[in-house]
Amino acid sequence: MNNQNKKILAPSILSADFAKLGQQVLEATEGGAQLLHIDVMDGHFVPNISFGAPILKSIAKLDIADFDVHLMIENPDRYIDDFVTEKTQYITVHQEACIHLHRTLCHIKEKGAKCGVSINPATPLETLKWVLPMVDLVLVMSVNPGFGGQKFIDFSLDKIQELDKIRKEQGLEFRIQVDGGVTLKNAKELVDCGADILVAGSAVFGTDNIKSTVSEFVHVMNQ
Ligand code: DX5
Ligand code: ZN
Repeated sequence: MNNQNKKILAPSILSADFAKLGQQVLEATEGGAQLLHIDVMDGHFVPNISFGAPILKSIAKLDIADFDVHLMIENPDRYIDDFVTEKTQYITVHQEACIHLHRTLCHIKEKGAKCGVSINPATPLETLKWVLPMVDLVLVMSVNPGFGGQKFIDFSLDKIQELDKIRKEQGLEFRIQVDGGVTLKNAKELVDCGADILVAGSAVFGTDNIKSTVSEFVHVMNQ
């Protein structure tokens, strides 16, 4: 398998122990995580508050995987520049939070990051029709965003398959990412449906051995 086709695990630091954050992201990286998923919540778009850019700037100095920033915030345009660090690879915004989605995606690209768009479980794929050719990543939420440790919503499987079909039919190259309720049990099925990048929070940072859990995920996903 060449690197382009390799399926990627992006552990979500939302479930990390923040008192040991540096150590835990190093362990996840050593286990084979190629991205670190950074969940930013504002208490408005989602009913929870997480953390902001200073956390990213502190860990950006470590020898760790690149950042995949998931902005669950209203008015993301105001904050995009703050999340551009030397390690930021993707910045993803929610379709539901962007009145001028095309403008926001252009803004991310202008800053030199790859742009992603995310949709909540109840949001139809059709809402992304006109931006699909310009995005680097589509994030299919498989739980209602706001909290780690929720149960995977089963109809997300159909949504991933449908998105993969659209991608093939239109010859597009965006990555498909799935976030919420991802475990070692459903990881392979998600990849088989078309997912390229899986986000896992509690299933990684809730275990005793972060490094070996990450390498197990990477192994299962690339079987
Ligand atoms: C939820 C976040 C997720 C969360 C996933 O709103 O976007 O990234 O950390 O947590 P788990 O993997 O525990 O469902
Ligand atoms: Zn997320």
